[in-house]
This record gives sequence, structure tokens and C-alpha cells, in this order.
Amino acid sequence: MAQFQSLPGFREFYPDALARRNHIFRLWRQTAGAYGFQEYDAPVLEPLDLYKTKSGDEIESQLFSFTDKGGREVALRPEMTPTVCRLVGEKANALKRPIKWFSIAEFYRYERMQKGRGRCFFQLNADIFGEAGVEAETELIALLIQCFGAFGLTAEDFYVRLSDRNLWFYYLEALGLDEPRSRAVLSAVDRHEKMGDDAFKDYTDQFGALDSGLKTKVLAFLQIKSLATLEAAVSSIPGEKLGARLADWRKLLGNLTAMSLGKFVEVDLGVVRGLAYYTGFVFEAFDRKGELRALAGGGRYDSLIGKLGYNDMPAVGFGMGDMTFGLLLEQRGLTPTVTQPTDVYVVIGGEAERQAAFADIQSLRSDGYRVDYPLKDLAFGKQFKAAGESGAKLALVYGGEELAKGVVRIRDLAARTEMEVPRDQVSVVVRDFFSGGAE
Ligand code: HAM
Repeated sequence: MAQFQSLPGFREFYPDALARRNHIFRLWRQTAGAYGFQEYDAPVLEPLDLYKTKSGDEIESQLFSFTDKGGREVALRPEMTPTVCRLVGEKANALKRPIKWFSIAEFYRYERMQKGRGRCFFQLNADIFGEAGVEAETELIALLIQCFGAFGLTAEDFYVRLSDRNLWFYYLEALGLDEPRSRAVLSAVDRHEKMGDDAFKDYTDQFGALDSGLKTKVLAFLQIKSLATLEAAVSSIPGEKLGARLADWRKLLGNLTAMSLGKFVEVDLGVVRGLAYYTGFVFEAFDRKGELRALAGGGRYDSLIGKLGYNDMPAVGFGMGDMTFGLLLEQRGLTPTVTQPTDVYVVIGGEAERQAAFADIQSLRSDGYRVDYPLKDLAFGKQFKAAGESGAKLALVYGGEELAKGVVRIRDLAARTEMEVPRDQVSVVVRDFFSGGAE
């Protein structure tokens, strides 16, 4: 038995799995590019302090952290948001706004392992900096939706739940709660879907039981699932904040409807997001069947850059993981077989012919074709079998007889046709074949 297993929750990518992963990254990258986002990258290992208090208790408790040989407290990145804030904060004056950036990177969290959740995973992160209005949310939610659409997933497969921490704060303030109490209620709301009423235990421990009238209101508010219900719920509350916020809601939902994306988005005040830094609209993507954990999550975080010691800058973004996303593609039968086939397989008679074949093999490879050949002498039958298995369209036969005549036999493996081609014509014939000339 193997002595060295990979660590629990860490993934190994055999070629077919890596081909699937690359396919996902390729379409995410292409989609982010179509929205005008620029790609960046950053370190995997960061100072531990970057995540302490910034990301929130849950992520902090899941950190892979240690002291390095220089005595520094460091952590493997559990998310990109604090890092990208540092990148933007450092160069804030030099960067043209709005800053639209994305990355595809690996993250590490010591989580309890379950379907769709591991201890290392990839995320597409897309963020917009420097735009305080809902235009930024519009752009990001549209991009998020297209990152699913690019794979053929539709509104029947997934949806985005949209909520708003500002609205919650204004509402709780109107109910008479101060900020610490409001934060505690929001963390209960965050856990309510999973834990039911037990979610309020922390609040009770800290501040005593939530007044029952208040609790009823909170529970009713978190069940709001439409703009109309939301408008009705806040209509009787005095003050301008809630009214102004509803105008933002109408604008954002109006923008998304104008983009024909309305069917993907649902108002859902039950979502508040666990991460500590969110300040405004928040959203999460889920599969329609409700079988999988969250597919993506994001929101506005206008004060995080300031908290890192730079000048404040408005920011919105999301992270979309590759694990639940891969499961969704699989469930819907949309996982492509994407291992790259060989173009040309070279069948070689023996050692002398091998030397002759090498020149053509190298020149075809330089032309960009995927070319393979047996590393050791093999019977012709076995070589043709390998050619078929490699997915090659053409087999080039370098036998003693052919070379004596100064030709190479080229076999079209699908059409089962063959022709003899002078050696110096091989690359022209191969090129014609692949550009459709010989079909
Ligand atoms: P998050 O909700 O922690 O947000 O993660 C976003 C997505 O990453 C999740 O919806 C899920 O797809 C994936 N994910 C998270 N943890 C795991 C895990 N243990 N295993 C597999 N997949 C996982 C953030 O990370 C924010 N930083 C996103 C963001 C970017 N907000 C603004 N900009």
C-alpha cells in the first residue's frame, strides 16, 4: 500500500481532471475578458495579520497558519479579497478607475470536508474598485451569471440571491438596535438557514434574549423574497435612509432586467454573508435544485481598503469556486471530454527509419501540430493501435520500403485511405489536411 497519501481535502489532478479544470478556467478567463476585466496574481503565503479580524472569525479559525523560519506569523491565503485590496491600496493613485480586475487562484481553508467543500480549492475572483454606485454591482452580477452561461447553464440550473447589509442595518436601527447588537443579529441571520432558531444563541449569550416582538420582525424580514414585499415592509418606517436604499434596489434590479438577466436574480434577505467586511449589497449563487453548497458569493466592501491603512475606496466583487461548480456541470451532463488528442502519430519501421522520422517529427511539432510516436521499436500492428488510441487523425508511416523510395505513407485514420507522399512534401500535405484542403 502507498506510504504517502495526499493530505485530507487536498486534490490531485490527473490529466483528464486537469483538462476539465483548465476548460473551466479558460471559459472563466474568456468571460472576464469580455467584460473588460484585467487579470492579476499575488502571493499564496501572506502575513497572518492580513486575515485577522479582516476576514471574520470563521475564516480565521480555518487558516493554515504557521511561523516561518524568520519568525514571521504567516498564513496560506484563504481568500483573495484582503490581498487584492492591498494591491489596489498600494497603487491607488496610479490606477485608472474604475479598476476591473480578476484572478483565478488556489485557496486554503481548514474546513470540515463535505461535498463541494475541500481544504484547497480554486476561485475566480472578480472585483471592481472605485465605483460607489450600483453600476458596479450590475456589472459584477452580470459577469457572474455569464460565467455560468458560458458553459450552457441556464436559469433552470442556478440563480443569484440578492440581499443588502445596509438595508438590514437601517432596518435594525429603526427597530432600536445599536451597531453591536445589529451585527450579532446579522450573524444569527447568516446562520438561520442552517440552524433555525439556535442561530440566535450567540446573541442571547451576549445581550440577553432578543425581545420576542423584535425577533418576529427579524424572522419576517429575513423571509422577504421580492421587491414588492420589501417595499411594503419598510413603507411605514420613518426616515430617509430606507427610502433612498430602496431606490438603489430598483435601479440595480432595473439594470439587470434591462440586460435580460432578471430571471436569474431573486431578492432574498435571508442572505447576509458571513465575511466581516461586507457593507452593502451581498449576493450568492446557488443551484436551483438546492442540492449543492453555495456556488459563488460576493458583495460590496467599501471600508476594507481603509482598514488596511490606505485611503478608503469603494469596492465590490465576488468569488466563485471550482468545486461546487464542477459538481453542477457534472449533474447537468455538461462536463466536456477535453483531453487534447494527438494530431499526427508517426509509425516507425525500425532504428534506421527512426533517425529519418525524427527530422519530420521535429519540424511538424515546430509547426504547432501535436505529434507522437513510439519511444521503442514496436510491431506495426501495435503502432497503428496506439495511433488510433491517441486520437490522431493522420498516421505517417516511415517503413524501410517507403524510405528506400523516398516517400512517406500517410494514412487518414478516419477515412481509412492512404497515399504515398515524397518526403519533402510531408509538411505541406499535413498542413493541407488540417486546414481542410485535403478533405
Ligand atoms: P466565500 O463565500 O467565502 O467568499 O467563497 C466564495 C466561493 O468560494 C464559495 O461560494 C464557494 O464556491 C467557494 N469556496 C469557499 N470555500 C470553499 C471550500 N472550502 N471548498 C470549496 N470551495 C469553497 C469569498 O471568498 C470572498 N472573498 C469573495 C469575494 C470576492 N468577495 C468580494 N470579492
